[in-house]
Amino acid sequence: MINNPKSKALQERAFRFLPLGVNSNFRYWGEGITLYMSKAQGCTLWDVDGNQYIDYRLGFGPIILGHSYPEVDEFVKEEITRGTMAAMTVELELEIAEMMVEMCPSVEMVRFACSGTEATMHAIRVARAYTGRDKILKFEGMYHGFQDYTLWSTYSPAEVYGNRHSPIPIPASSGIPRAIGDLVITAPFNDFEVFDKLMRSHGEQIAAVIVEPCMGNCAAIEPLPGFLHHIRQRCNEYGCVMILDEVKTGFRIANGGAQEYYGIYPDLATYAKALANGYPLAAFGGKREIMSIIGRGVAQGGTFNNNKCGVAAAYATLKILKSRPVLKEIENRGERLKKGLFEIFSSQGIPICMNGYGAMFSYAIGVEKVTDQRSFSQSDQEYYLRLVEAAIERGVMPDHDPREPWFLCYSHTDEVIDRTLEVMEEVVKTTR
Ligand SMILES: Cc1ncc(COP(=O)(O)O)c(C=O)c1O
Repeated sequence: MINNPKSKALQERAFRFLPLGVNSNFRYWGEGITLYMSKAQGCTLWDVDGNQYIDYRLGFGPIILGHSYPEVDEFVKEEITRGTMAAMTVELELEIAEMMVEMCPSVEMVRFACSGTEATMHAIRVARAYTGRDKILKFEGMYHGFQDYTLWSTYSPAEVYGNRHSPIPIPASSGIPRAIGDLVITAPFNDFEVFDKLMRSHGEQIAAVIVEPCMGNCAAIEPLPGFLHHIRQRCNEYGCVMILDEVKTGFRIANGGAQEYYGIYPDLATYAKALANGYPLAAFGGKREIMSIIGRGVAQGGTFNNNKCGVAAAYATLKILKSRPVLKEIENRGERLKKGLFEIFSSQGIPICMNGYGAMFSYAIGVEKVTDQRSFSQSDQEYYLRLVEAAIERGVMPDHDPREPWFLCYSHTDEVIDRTLEVMEEVVKTTR
């Protein structure tokens, strides 16, 4: 058990004023066990009771260089002494846009937002305006933020999704208007046949197919070979906009995200998280022809879209990513961790399916292959949770939720990876 009297006291206080004592449902782990943070540096996190953890959550993925990364923080501090908001554009925004166009193969123009949720919401509006259609197709188990249009068949138990050949869109929250369900088509990921069938039935009414390159919110399940290109091809045939949601993969699995990694060129792409190493900035961008309709009868904006902290942090972060092989090193270290974990489980005779990339990976226990949320739901999630709890007690912190990947940053050194493997070996041996 973690010694957490201060976290417990803070939670009790927080319960009085914040629903569940937190500001995002995902941060609530349960009564008496939710930890409250005191500080973070590099890849290390401290809770308010002074317990120390190797952090593999990284704020749900944004930290790509390290917490409190001096080069980024110093640049932000310097910039904000010259004002944080002016309702005017600053030159740094152009610099970021230019770097994004250079780094992300399909991006010709960009607009900023504050969160991944807003980026996907804006991209969907632009796609609807561009095509003059209303429907969207999304994949089961994929998460595109909290806006109503895509919070369907996201994290409900897979049994409620109906037959895989005729999936039922399920809203992931009360309060989402039922009528929006008429505009949402859901499909199991990686199923060529079902996707084609849905496109044959609805393709001409679909404004956008929105897809994460891998299931970044369901154990980092990768696309089957050719699946993303298949979506691309069908979008071309039916005149739909392909939106690649790179909120988790962008500036993480490669400088050009999944577009570079898989050579896949969507019409629009969305970014947030690693773009600014933990400061709030998001973006969506894509083909000039589509992006150019913004401002010509198509509304997009936001008071904080060029908040100076986010803008300065994104500028400093992209400069670093562009000039040094940061993501290559993260990938190498992450692959070593992935391989080490696989060996630990295999040596204990536990079947395990590793998914994802060095910088962002996960594993499903008790199954040999997972391709979508339906197959992932067959994995042993209870055991996963027991492992995580034991790891956290020993100072290694992946997320409690088995769907949330392990994230690595540049500050996870080789020594940190070695230490993590030692802990995980002990955890797997003692929790079997
Ligand atoms: C793929 C994807 N899209 C969108 C979002 C929403 O981003 P935000 O939490 O910044 O609104 C997330 C968040 O985890 C995500 O993983």
